[in-house]
Amino acid sequence: MCGIVGYIGNKKATPILLDGLLSLEYRGYDSAGIATIENDVIKVMKDKGRVKNLENLDGIHDLIGTVGIAHTRWATHGKPCRENSHPHMDNSNTFAVVHNGIIENYIELKEFLISKGYTFLSQTDTEVIPNLIHYYYTNGPVSVLKDSLEKFLGSVKSAVNDLKGSYAIEVISPICPNEVIVVRKDSPLVIGKGGGENYIASDIPAILKYTKEFYLLDDNEFAVISKDIVKFYDSSLTEHSKPIKNIEWDSNAADKCGYEDYMLKEIFEQPTAIRETIGSRFRLGEKCSFDDIDISKEYLKSINNIYIVACGTAMHAGLVGKTLIENLCKIPTTVDIASEFRYRDPIIDEHTLCIYISQSGETADTIAALKLAKSKGAKTLAISNVIGSSITREADYTIYTHAGPEIAVASTKAYTSQVALIAILAMYFAEILGSSDEKTILDLKTDMIDLPTKIEKILDNVEPIKEFAQKIYTEKDMFFLGRNMDYNVALEGSLKLKEISYIHSEAYAAGELKHGPIALIENGVTVIGIITNPNLVEKSISNLQEVITRGAKTLVITNQILTNSHFDYVINIPETNPLLSPILSIIPMQLLSYYISKFKGLDVDKPRNLAKSVTVE
Ligand code: M6R
Repeated sequence: MCGIVGYIGNKKATPILLDGLLSLEYRGYDSAGIATIENDVIKVMKDKGRVKNLENLDGIHDLIGTVGIAHTRWATHGKPCRENSHPHMDNSNTFAVVHNGIIENYIELKEFLISKGYTFLSQTDTEVIPNLIHYYYTNGPVSVLKDSLEKFLGSVKSAVNDLKGSYAIEVISPICPNEVIVVRKDSPLVIGKGGGENYIASDIPAILKYTKEFYLLDDNEFAVISKDIVKFYDSSLTEHSKPIKNIEWDSNAADKCGYEDYMLKEIFEQPTAIRETIGSRFRLGEKCSFDDIDISKEYLKSINNIYIVACGTAMHAGLVGKTLIENLCKIPTTVDIASEFRYRDPIIDEHTLCIYISQSGETADTIAALKLAKSKGAKTLAISNVIGSSITREADYTIYTHAGPEIAVASTKAYTSQVALIAILAMYFAEILGSSDEKTILDLKTDMIDLPTKIEKILDNVEPIKEFAQKIYTEKDMFFLGRNMDYNVALEGSLKLKEISYIHSEAYAAGELKHGPIALIENGVTVIGIITNPNLVEKSISNLQEVITRGAKTLVITNQILTNSHFDYVINIPETNPLLSPILSIIPMQLLSYYISKFKGLDVDKPRNLAKSVTVE
């Protein structure tokens, strides 16, 4: 939620800031703005709407400052309008601030500042920050001997001490025109190291084209960034050094590479993403291994139960993970939504392993749920796609999907990579525990290796899916039905459709239909059935027959030969081990949602009201 960019160097900051904002727009797209320093004056240009609007503002390309900060907003406090757009300034125009996160006590702080004579132009929580910095700069316990940078940093620290909530903040001021000060807590911020210039961003991909060397700022850590040097300070402003991380991602990974939309590109990247996620984690005839973790048999034997906790699509990957773990490792596993888990006092102790799945690694609820489990003595394992993301820094163990940057708001390649990774993790645990026979694991490994080619096969034949999308894109309601893992994947198919096509849809366990939802089935309603489990074919067909009898139009995604059925459309997908089938059966549903959204003329990559990374509760 909200994207932040910053630049300091010898070049004009504006083009770099605009470019960074464009790549960060998936984090929020209600409004955008930039601030640069020119001749000891802060120049701010901002407006509601997309970054394209900002780019077209009169005079924006005349800004010549070589230091600047920028922001693209996902509105929380105050509607999208120019006044509420970032950057925000203090009353004396001495400090400009951009902020990602939520200041929970802003009303109290605002009242305090108003009592001191400050006035406010916006409804945002953020505007208290520059004014607090100004307050401390002018009223703080500052020795006359202190130089202005020390005083500036001290004032930012004093202001931040008053904030409750989450924040990634950039501050500039003509008092120190050659520095940008940043600080974060529970919101991501990275610093990219260049030669004689430095970059700042919420996410690595935004500045990947400029550098592959990154500092990952920690919670409650400050950085003072000039063009040649970055200095780090802890929460009491004691300076320390920080290692640099080399990020291997190809900078093309953050481009559309000729595809119309990121989502389509990312759907087509799934064969590579699965290959990379498998990587060298197993070979036929060898046991699974992870470079990143080493878990002992004693520890696994001491585990009574596993929780998988996540949000949205990542939670749906967790549902598939539950079946994989229970099937292969025989450890009872519960899947929970992070925002529920964190507030319901779950029964966990040192004999519980809690697995957290998050593509971004920055989802506020998932991180809070992880911290809760740690406080109760459980070991925590993070599955993330973003190296060094917040969740990976909190967890006891981390394993990465290697899907490459996922830019489209609708998650696709992250989901299939997460499922693949949990399958490898389940096999790894099973091999340590000896809880599954060797043949079962060997068969699963063989099928996993074949998955990328099978995905390619589905992607080679998108026309029937596109045709079906054209027939149904004007509908208002749809249903997805499946049993067991086919139900898990139905939930993900339904979420995909909702978020990018705005068509209301529900996913049901096929056997549950008769307990109420079947009342919604009427003439012409579209029902999408998923049938991949050979043991459940007949039962699933019967459930779909019940909706056909009531006038439903049916599309079935299957890897089985369906005889005596009366479906309107059938999409055949390659067969695989039933435990892996979600990795294949989700692909037609991703494509269907994509094409429906295109036929409706919607912005596939930036659906309304959403943002890629949900860093607020
Ligand atoms: O970054 P995360 O995996 O933690 O994100 C979790 C959800 O916000 C995310 O999967 C969301 O549901 C997607 N937009 C779904 O496509």
